[in-house]
Amino acid sequence: MKRVGFIGWRGMVGSVLMDRMRAEGDFDLIPEAVFFTTSQVGQPGPDVGHGARPLQDAESIDALREMDLILTCQGGDYTKAIYPKLRATGWDGYWIDAASALRMDPNATIILDPVNQPVIDGALEQGKRDFIGGNCTVSLMLMAIGGLFREGLVEWVSAMTYQAASGAGAKNMRELLSQMGALHGAVSPLLGDPASAILEIDRRVTETMRSPGFPVENFGAPLAGSLIPWIDTALPNGQSREEWKGMAETNKILGREADPVPIDGLCVRVGAMRCHSQGLTIKLARDCSISQIEQIIAASNDWVRLVPNDRQETVQGLSPAAVTGTLTVPVGRLRKMNLGERYLAAFTVGDQLLWGAAEPLRRMLRILLA
Ligand code: HSE
Repeated sequence: MKRVGFIGWRGMVGSVLMDRMRAEGDFDLIPEAVFFTTSQVGQPGPDVGHGARPLQDAESIDALREMDLILTCQGGDYTKAIYPKLRATGWDGYWIDAASALRMDPNATIILDPVNQPVIDGALEQGKRDFIGGNCTVSLMLMAIGGLFREGLVEWVSAMTYQAASGAGAKNMRELLSQMGALHGAVSPLLGDPASAILEIDRRVTETMRSPGFPVENFGAPLAGSLIPWIDTALPNGQSREEWKGMAETNKILGREADPVPIDGLCVRVGAMRCHSQGLTIKLARDCSISQIEQIIAASNDWVRLVPNDRQETVQGLSPAAVTGTLTVPVGRLRKMNLGERYLAAFTVGDQLLWGAAEPLRRMLRILLA
């Protein structure tokens, strides 16, 4: 593996990826890192240890063909436009992609090596060349409870999500903060006066949230002080596409499309910045004690962290505020439900830009560079 081409390395996911690759010394393993651009061809690229070289044209199939491996965070439109043309030339390099465009393609493998290393190994043995990052919610759910799937303990899962603004994009993160600021601005004099009436503050907040000037260009609805119980497009069966991905991608990641585990739930956007949270109901395939379940979860990978079902520890450690910017995937609120002995409740939080996006890509690159 000599030449590795990077596309979309300046966007939000791409920037997180670059930071992680620098932190882990990944660039030291790449003989020639080539940076592409869709808008600044010829300008100096980043210096990742061998000096800054001119940026190459991301639309040039001839330039892309020179690569042994391409890693793109440029987005689905780019993948759809470029990938078929590149493969049509006979290019047989590795394609690692953050976008969902190729994910469910039979030739594509969804990468999450702490959970599906055997599936990745099998794909490499078969000569597969397309390795695609999973949906963030799915990847974070599997980082949390992949151990239970591995032990054959999961009959079905209902995942109710609390998804951060970052999943919708950088502009949405800005819009969430603008909304928060607008709400605060509308009542700040009243907030400063301890004698002011809370119902008057609430009335003004509501009025501001519903006013035509409230910034909703990206979300289409207020998120700050509210929530949006729909993510992505609508499917004919009533699911949102985000909800559909839960079952489709989980079973593909686990390599069990022929014997799929049912997974469903409602996906909800909340006013968190970059951590997705999920409330899980897990129907166990057989009875199992909470202490056995805790051991299995705690041992399933190096990043999962068990949070005891204790109020203080939960409030401190099982939240977007605690997890954001880290690779730790806490799992807590583990308890049997009133529904029956085989019904397990769990809550998990994970950084949407790390394990939800960039981390599986850089780890796949490492696997291919080894
Ligand atoms: N679709 C996800 C979301 C992010 O909107 O939160 C991408 O995996």
